[in-house]
Amino acid sequence: MATEQTFIMVKPDGVQRGLVGEIVGRFEKRGYQLVNAKMVHASQEHLEQHYADLKGKPFFPGLIKYMASGPVFATVWQGKDVVKQGRALLGATNPLASAPGTIRGDFAIDVGRNICHGSDSVESAKKEISLWFGQDGSIPYKRAVDAWIY
Ligand code: TYD
Repeated sequence: MATEQTFIMVKPDGVQRGLVGEIVGRFEKRGYQLVNAKMVHASQEHLEQHYADLKGKPFFPGLIKYMASGPVFATVWQGKDVVKQGRALLGATNPLASAPGTIRGDFAIDVGRNICHGSDSVESAKKEISLWFGQDGSIPYKRAVDAWIY
């Protein structure tokens, strides 16, 4: 079975609010496998590359400043349909539109402080994993529960 991967990042507000464990736990408990993770205080240039598609949007300068204001927790997750399901776990971009039970729907109220990022397609996941982790996109290992849920 071809295994899909996605890039999920806890943004500076999520890190500073102590939500890393909560966010990682939700993905683990759903059945996804954590295959890479690191804390990074990203440069403005790196973040401008990450958000290159949004250059020109009125909120772009504020977004970069917020994202560069402190470390983020960058992760790579693997499993069935993880790109789409990862977005579902995060909830809508604007937390006021996110359903309760989603990460943003439970912990955020402001689109400019929405605590987490998730790739929006398999193609952008590949680009983002390569931007944040380079050649070492994932570190494979066998999960003990695989026999039950995959
Ligand atoms: P976007 O890529 O549209 O959403 P998502 O993160 O769900 O893929 O936007 C990137 C980030 O930009 C978003 O998480 C929060 C910020 N943003 C704003 O600050 N204001 C806005 O009006 C929008 C649309 C996004």
